[in-house]
Amino acid sequence: MTRILAIESSCDETAAAVVVDGRRALSSVVASQDELHARTGGVVPEVAARQHLRALLPVVREALRRAECGWDNLDAVAATAGPGLPGALVVGFNAARGLAYARGLPLIAVDHIEGHVSANWLGAEEPELPALALVVSGGHTELLLMEGHGQFRRLGGTRDDAAGEAFDKVARLLDLGYPGGPPLSALARTATDRTLTLPRAWLRGSDDFSFSGLKTAVLHTVRGVSQQGGPSGEPPPVTPPVAPPAAPPAAEVAWAFEESVADVLSRKAARVAEREAAGSLLLAGGVAANARLRERVQERATVPLFIPPPDLCTDNAAMIGAAAFRHLDEAVDPAAPLDIFSTARRGSLRLSA
Ligand code: KG4
Ligand code: ZN
Repeated sequence: MTRILAIESSCDETAAAVVVDGRRALSSVVASQDELHARTGGVVPEVAARQHLRALLPVVREALRRAECGWDNLDAVAATAGPGLPGALVVGFNAARGLAYARGLPLIAVDHIEGHVSANWLGAEEPELPALALVVSGGHTELLLMEGHGQFRRLGGTRDDAAGEAFDKVARLLDLGYPGGPPLSALARTATDRTLTLPRAWLRGSDDFSFSGLKTAVLHTVRGVSQQGGPSGEPPPVTPPVAPPAAPPAAEVAWAFEESVADVLSRKAARVAEREAAGSLLLAGGVAANARLRERVQERATVPLFIPPPDLCTDNAAMIGAAAFRHLDEAVDPAAPLDIFSTARRGSLRLSA
């Protein structure tokens, strides 16, 4: 039995977990900084790093306590090495390094995206490889063909905003606070008139995504601006003058936005999984916590589907422990000279052409 203490601090959650054999989380503690960043409407990197510094050791202690695990029962320490906010990564990774050094344990650098995907190994069933992974978070929207642990082929990704970023920006337009995904989704559920349609960027012939046009369409809709121009794009002549169309209620806009995102993500992921003859389809990342997206993918997937429970979709350390278990043979000596940023690069996905 291999017990790994894992630490995650790449963005705005300070997290620690104890994971057994990469399959079972004995504990998973997440200290969220949401309230702190809600005041600024987004993450301020220096504020995040300082908060990680405050929260980290109490979170680690709590993870060990809940797992009923002493230092002597641990086999390795793991931490996210990238990608993420440099200042935030440094705090978690160097804390892991110090703890590993003090306890004579090996240290494992984990890629954050691989961590998200690995959350799918924390359930009862094990996904079959090759798997198609749709990673949708605040910073990423990626379609990855996973051929083995740490072996990913990137088939497509967003050309502009990440899916979670689009949720956050639209939520901001609707004055819903930060992070925007959960309140936007809750508002969408209250929509009574569900007839509004917003654009979908299919990017046919490509496995890429684009959400910036949708975001602009929401902006126009919310401001009540007609999107139809004259033949050369100039505003249409208005005689007699008419009032601009009234903006639909925010709930209807939220509903139409969520429909558009869930429709594109689910249809493309299901289609590519089938085309690539994937053994399973894996959802991962914060946006995979979205109920409407989960529902749409369930309707459309033609290969076995895995979606972690919502608390393992958003940033957590259990997923880092799950990924670390697959890279025990790449553990480093914490006492060796280590440059966090070159380690972060080493920790990034080993993509094959
Ligand atoms: O994976 P994550 O916790 O952090 C990153 O690695 O980025 O993802 C955070 C993102 C945020 O953009 C947040 O708004 C979004 O995931 N999110 C959601 C939901 N829960 C979190 N988006 C839509 N629906 C949700 N229920
Ligand atoms: Zn994440």
